[in-house]
Amino acid sequence: MNNIISCNQFTRESLEKLLDLAKKIKENPNEYKNKLDGKIIAPIFFEPSTRTRLSFETAALRLGAKIIATENAQNSSTKKGESLQDTIRILAGYADCIVMRHNSDDSAEIAVSYSKVPIINAGSGKKEHPSQSLLDVFTIREKRGKIDGTKIAILGDLVYGRTIHSLLELLSLYDGIEVWGLSKEAFRLPEKYKKMLEDHNIKYHECAGFDEIPRDIDVLYHTRIQSERFDGDFGKEEFIINKALLSKFLQNTIVMHPLPRLDEISEDIDDDPRAVYFEQAHNGVPVRMAMYLTVMGYAE
Ligand code: NCD
Repeated sequence: MNNIISCNQFTRESLEKLLDLAKKIKENPNEYKNKLDGKIIAPIFFEPSTRTRLSFETAALRLGAKIIATENAQNSSTKKGESLQDTIRILAGYADCIVMRHNSDDSAEIAVSYSKVPIINAGSGKKEHPSQSLLDVFTIREKRGKIDGTKIAILGDLVYGRTIHSLLELLSLYDGIEVWGLSKEAFRLPEKYKKMLEDHNIKYHECAGFDEIPRDIDVLYHTRIQSERFDGDFGKEEFIINKALLSKFLQNTIVMHPLPRLDEISEDIDDDPRAVYFEQAHNGVPVRMAMYLTVMGYAE
């Protein structure tokens, strides 16, 4: 796999291979510290980012690679009107791998067609966020011991939330998945993703309230309303996970969120062992290390 731009590139086998490598890296990081000695990584972020950019940078440094980056693409020639393809052509002559986040849904495909070095998609518009969903399924597998049979509730912004779209894509590679969706009406899951689930024989239940989500659900996956991606004001999140709410679910239910959170998850559950969103974010480092090794041909 020379690029990772979409979750639909993965088979169950290639996904498991990457997750296994990330697990080995997490257990034994020192074994990997020189793997990318002498390599240069160029992260270019045309949209805000904290976790994704810094964990991609950490992952590169932990493998011994060096980084060239503008702090933010607004400081790059994009500000002068340079096209995405020209920026990519130039960076591909400097670096051995490009990590890119962009607000256009098609940006990753465009980047691949103009780059002679591997491209990793760090978020493309509302469409995809493969590195996030790889760390999400890594976390689910780590916590549950397996991904098959996962019962998951997706909450928040199911329209513009690219982490949701990519996660559903990866989960559809597994057996026995069942999904409950809970959001404000304006943010319900688009038909094309419902159809994708149906095509994989995955049952989707659209819910009107938390009481329609089973008590023994495995994962509550909340997301932020992506207000920067649409005009108009649809108000704040109505469905909040707090201590009182979480007490209605069993001990095996984990709470996930790609972060940043706004009001979706109350801080009063942060110390509950079922709240795994910080651990989830930390898993971004071994998973992104595994992504670099995969696209740069160093995966065993
Ligand atoms: C997500 C994103 O950028 O899509 N953040 C992240 O990468 N962890 C989710 C969000 O911004 O709400």
